[in-house]
Amino acid sequence: MAKAKTIYSCTECGASAPKWQGQCPGCGVWNTLVETIAENAPASTSRFAALGGTAGLQTLSEIEAREEDRLPTGIGEFDRALGGGLVAGGVVLLGGDPGIGKSTLLLQALAELSGASHVLYVSGEESGQQIAMRARRLSLDTKKLKLLAEINLEKILSTLHSVKPQVAVIDSIQTLWSDQLSSAPGSVAQVRECAAQLTRLAKQTGINIILVGHVTKEGALAGPRVLEHIVDTVLYFEGDTHSSFRLIRAVKNRYGAVNEIGVFAMTDKGLKGVNNPSAMFLSQHGQEVPGSCVLVTQEGTRPLLVEIQALVDQAHGNPRRLTVGLDAQRLAMLLAVLHRHAGIVCFDQDVFVNAVGGVKIVEPAADLSVMLSIVSSLKNRSLPSKLIVFGEVGLAGEIRPAPRGQERLKEAAKLGFTRAMIPEANKPRHPIAGFEVIAVRRVDEAVERLRELD
Ligand code: TYD
Ligand code: MG
Repeated sequence: MAKAKTIYSCTECGASAPKWQGQCPGCGVWNTLVETIAENAPASTSRFAALGGTAGLQTLSEIEAREEDRLPTGIGEFDRALGGGLVAGGVVLLGGDPGIGKSTLLLQALAELSGASHVLYVSGEESGQQIAMRARRLSLDTKKLKLLAEINLEKILSTLHSVKPQVAVIDSIQTLWSDQLSSAPGSVAQVRECAAQLTRLAKQTGINIILVGHVTKEGALAGPRVLEHIVDTVLYFEGDTHSSFRLIRAVKNRYGAVNEIGVFAMTDKGLKGVNNPSAMFLSQHGQEVPGSCVLVTQEGTRPLLVEIQALVDQAHGNPRRLTVGLDAQRLAMLLAVLHRHAGIVCFDQDVFVNAVGGVKIVEPAADLSVMLSIVSSLKNRSLPSKLIVFGEVGLAGEIRPAPRGQERLKEAAKLGFTRAMIPEANKPRHPIAGFEVIAVRRVDEAVERLRELD
């Protein structure tokens, strides 16, 4: 028997090369080429087939732009991340670590939707029995929830064609395989082909399709990057599996804002939306402690209050710098700025910084609170209670404004905070009743003002 011809395809961009090489010829990323069986792509699978019916030139202004009708899933926090609900013909990709709650959330959403819409849950990972048991445990109304345990793409497509549900969940895209291709389920070619075919079906028939995707160890969606380009919306489910909080974050949304988040708590009755999450990342101290500083961060349109904790301790040997939930490179930078512009020396100290509650904070507006928590721990003096801090720190020692400063201040005031140390440029034009604003321009000024506070 002739040996199957193999090629090497990139797990990032899907480009292929006849021979193995260290760097992908398509996207230039290293070590992403994996051996796959060469496929003659079936004639019908042009990636642009979904657009086939819309040929003909038009002026943009002639096209009637209507707001898409949204189909709310009935799970408020999920709808929020989606930008208001599902859109007919839209394809959503939901990625996340194993066990984070993807299947649970989608089962809950489908059960809610099944009251008024036709829905179909396609499972390639769990048997009907397992899903039924979970639904019973969650006390869901599943009388109208249709289930298909299948991994063959062609069978799924024909079922979707004949059943014509309004919403279909595919759990997960990595388990599907098309019999047009000979490579294994989960391979680049299969994932790409299955996603493209399902997307085409969604666009043609107006079915909402929600795909579940696995993530790699690095936290990116497994499979080719093209997957993210094919679909309309990419949502990430994140959270610390040790805590019960889960965030759904929109990283791409053709029908809404990105970086919008939905917040859930995992309970023994499944995922429950958290309506007022802004205070959930504050730890409850009986009294003020050194090294703790409350930051108001902004996630999408939502301000969140997060406690930043620092511990500065005499180093033995090489000083260590460690961050949890914050950028370690940025910590090194902040320590250098602190030294050069405020004369605070940490090079003989270990510095540990933690964002409480397992949140990841990427925005630079966290800089000032990280800095002040370090100063507080180093001097062993606690910051005043009821103080919030935000602001970006520049290499020249300047404190730069954070976006949406007013909303951050309002949220803090709402939660009972009475003081804020913020960048000068974020200073509100009208004073907020019962709220003192300390506006600072430079790092040394911030440290100086801190000393004056009780
Ligand atoms: P699951 O939805 O199967 O995760 P995924 O599909 O993302 O892999 O979630 C399973 C986890 O959720 C499992 O660790 C148990 C937990 N869980 C609860 O805590 N409460 C519940 O009511 C359910 C159904 C699951
Ligand atoms: Mg699952």
